[in-house]
Amino acid sequence: MTKLVEMSGIEKRFPGVHALKNVQFDLHSGEVHALMGENGAGKSTLMKILSGVYTRDGGTVDIDGFDTPPDSPRAAQDMGIGIIHQELSLMNDLTAAQNVFIGREPRRSFGRLDENALNTQTAEIFASMKLDMDPRAQVGDQTIARQQLIEIAKALSYKPRVLIMDEPTAALNDVEIAELFEVIRRLKADGVGIIYISHKMDEIKRIADRVTVMRDGAWIDTLDAAQTPLAKIIELMVGREVKDEPPVIPDTSGAETALEVRGLRRGREIHDVSFSIKQGEILGFAGLMGAGRTEVARIIFGADPRDGGEILVHGQPCNIRSPYDAVGAGIGYLSEDRKHFGLALDMTVRANIAMAAMGKFTSKTGVLNEAAMKQTADGFIKQLGIRTPSDLQDVGLLSGGNQQKVVIAKWLLRDCDILIFDEPTRGIDVGAKSEIYRLLEDLAAQGRAIIVISSELPEVMRLSHRIAVMCEGRLTGILPGGADTTQEQIMELATRREAAPVGE
Ligand SMILES: Nc1ncnc2c1ncn2[C@@H]1O[C@H](COP(=O)(O)OP(=O)(O)OP(=O)(O)O)[C@@H](O)[C@H]1O
Ligand SMILES: [Mg+2]
Repeated sequence: MTKLVEMSGIEKRFPGVHALKNVQFDLHSGEVHALMGENGAGKSTLMKILSGVYTRDGGTVDIDGFDTPPDSPRAAQDMGIGIIHQELSLMNDLTAAQNVFIGREPRRSFGRLDENALNTQTAEIFASMKLDMDPRAQVGDQTIARQQLIEIAKALSYKPRVLIMDEPTAALNDVEIAELFEVIRRLKADGVGIIYISHKMDEIKRIADRVTVMRDGAWIDTLDAAQTPLAKIIELMVGREVKDEPPVIPDTSGAETALEVRGLRRGREIHDVSFSIKQGEILGFAGLMGAGRTEVARIIFGADPRDGGEILVHGQPCNIRSPYDAVGAGIGYLSEDRKHFGLALDMTVRANIAMAAMGKFTSKTGVLNEAAMKQTADGFIKQLGIRTPSDLQDVGLLSGGNQQKVVIAKWLLRDCDILIFDEPTRGIDVGAKSEIYRLLEDLAAQGRAIIVISSELPEVMRLSHRIAVMCEGRLTGILPGGADTTQEQIMELATRREAAPVGE
């Protein structure tokens, strides 16, 4: 087995952060080496050093067949190192094919762009991934999942020997993940070495050969994936045992109904959805991708119009036609699409959090109360475990998962009494996940009504007081939360299709 990469004694410092401390990592040809660690552990930073994005402050990087490590992303590419970054880096105005071959488009004589070759070559890569997409499709029109797949196609187009995948599946559904794993298996068989970063623990067992765990910028251990129980890996990542108990379901029989939805309809997507949720309740929404859960949330929040149905807030019919109306009615929605949430990346954590409720921090004469802003920001940093040198760090410099926590803090500050969380723990590490679960429970205990949409069944089961299940735009059932409900019962409802009417 050829050793493709050997990194040792790697050091990296940013202002106020010792991001990598004496880290070691190696990669063989034909293996998947998972890199695990909590948000901010240093995974992306280590990979950015390997792919020439950052320069190291110390240590050695040996790459098979080369004397010196890459000093730029282009040099890394030339050495056969491909990276799929955690943040999508596509140009929205270009087509899928133009993005895949950006900067090295096939040309005809006189340097003219060869559109045909561009599209054919891209179509071939898509086909190898079993991805059904027109190479001429505009990237900005695609869902995040499909943009992620284009990003993967772009990395594959370089035919790398070393492929770094930084949370490639965060936005993918089960079918897309299965296809991606097929691609990974083929690459392995061709001798490609793959470095795989993910917060989805079950993927490690499915795809990894070895696992390296990092914590607080340091190397902790490198283990055989098949022989190491997940609980052990989690313990190494978090530095303590993580215990997650099933929910204690409160008695809300006497509580007031916070939100009621009757006969919600929209086009062919949503058919006659009705449910209600009481104050103090956590209602989970389970279902396969495309079941219509996000769509229901968006309609309630006024982000999409409805063709029929009623929304009642605290028993009063509420004519919600825009997110502005929804927030006015006390409804908050943490979207699954964080990018559109407008974190101001070049502003501080403090400013980003405070921005959500400027009125709270401005005096009658318009003076900003920085001390109060700091206090609030520090409170959230502590409560959510946001890893940052201080509340004055620019949000753009935080690790991916920590940026996400800032988004959550913003919504918490708005004091909505009905909160909809769409995939709240996407990209969030196992330890912080349980923090967020506890936080949602606290919010419910304070009398707020919480809706949680999650594609991770264990998460829905862990959190929900009741579980609503959708399939193809219909609500197929509502199950009790807690130990009484099994995964099988949920899956049965999640796949219970309405029989197609005769003649259709
Ligand atoms: N350009 C930068 N400037 C300052 N600090 C940085 C920079 N890049 C990363 N950091 C800090 O270095 C540490 C490691 O971040 P990194 O992005 O490597 O974490 P990660 O393990 O990839 O986390 P996640 O799971 O959230 O993606 C964090 O504390 C982060 O805030
Ligand atoms: Mg990262």
